[in-house]
Amino acid sequence: MQVRTFAADEVPAALARQAEALAEREWPGGGAHDPALRPVAMLLVSAEREVVAALDVLSKELVHRGRACRASGLSAVVTDPARRGRGHGRHLVAAAREFIARSGADIGLFTCDRPLRAFYESAGWEALEGTVLIGGTPGDPLPGDAPGFDKVTMAGFFSAQVKRDAASFRNARIALHPGVIDRLW
Ligand SMILES: CC(C)(COP(=O)(O)OP(=O)(O)OC[C@H]1O[C@@H](n2cnc3c(N)ncnc32)[C@H](O)[C@@H]1OP(=O)(O)O)[C@@H](O)C(=O)NCCC(=O)NCCS
Repeated sequence: MQVRTFAADEVPAALARQAEALAEREWPGGGAHDPALRPVAMLLVSAEREVVAALDVLSKELVHRGRACRASGLSAVVTDPARRGRGHGRHLVAAAREFIARSGADIGLFTCDRPLRAFYESAGWEALEGTVLIGGTPGDPLPGDAPGFDKVTMAGFFSAQVKRDAASFRNARIALHPGVIDRLW
C-alpha cells in the first residue's frame, strides 16, 4: 500500500476514475471541489493500482481573534466498502495529518459526524469539544451546530503561533467560511 498525493486536477486518469467512483457512491452528485480551496487528493493505492481509500485536503486562510492563519482540513474521506475495518482509513487520515503539518499550514481544522470522532482521534487528530466551525459565507453561514447537524470539530495545531494561541481555538466559534461549493468541510 502506498499513499499517493496529487493536486486534484493532476490525478492520473485510472486512479481518478476509481476515487471518483468511491466518492460518488457515498455522496451521489457531490461534484468537484472549489478550485479556490486548492484541493489536493490523497489516495491509498494497492500494489495492483487499486484505490483502497481516498480523501481530499482543502485549504484557505482564515482570521481568528484578529490573527490570520492558514488552515487545511479533510474532506470526502472514504474507504472502498469491501475493504473497510482493516485500518486503511486510519492510515490515510494519519498520513494526511502529516502532509498538512509539513505543508506550511498553521492549523488543521475540519468537522466530522460525532460517531467518527474516535476514528480521527486514533489517527492523531484532536477533538475540540465545544468548538463550532462555521462554514458557508459571512452572508449565508452554515455552522457545525446548525439544526439537524451534530458536527465535532477536529484539529491539529502545527505552527508555533497556533500552538501558543491554542486556547483561543477551544470552546470557540471559528469562521472558516469556505464558500458556496464546499459549504462546510
Ligand atoms: C469512515 C471510513 C473512511 C473508515 O474507513 P476504514 O478503512 O473502515 O477505517 P479503519 O479500518 O481505519 O477503522 C477505524 C475505526 O473507525 C471506526 N468507524 C468507521 N466508520 C465508523 C462509523 N460510521 N461510525 C463509528 N465508527 C466508525 C471503525 O469501527 C474502526 O474502529 P476500531 O479500530 O475501534 O475497530 C469508512 O467507514 C467510510 O468510507 N465510511 C463512509 C464515508 C464516511 O462516512 N466518511 C467520513 C466522513 S467525510
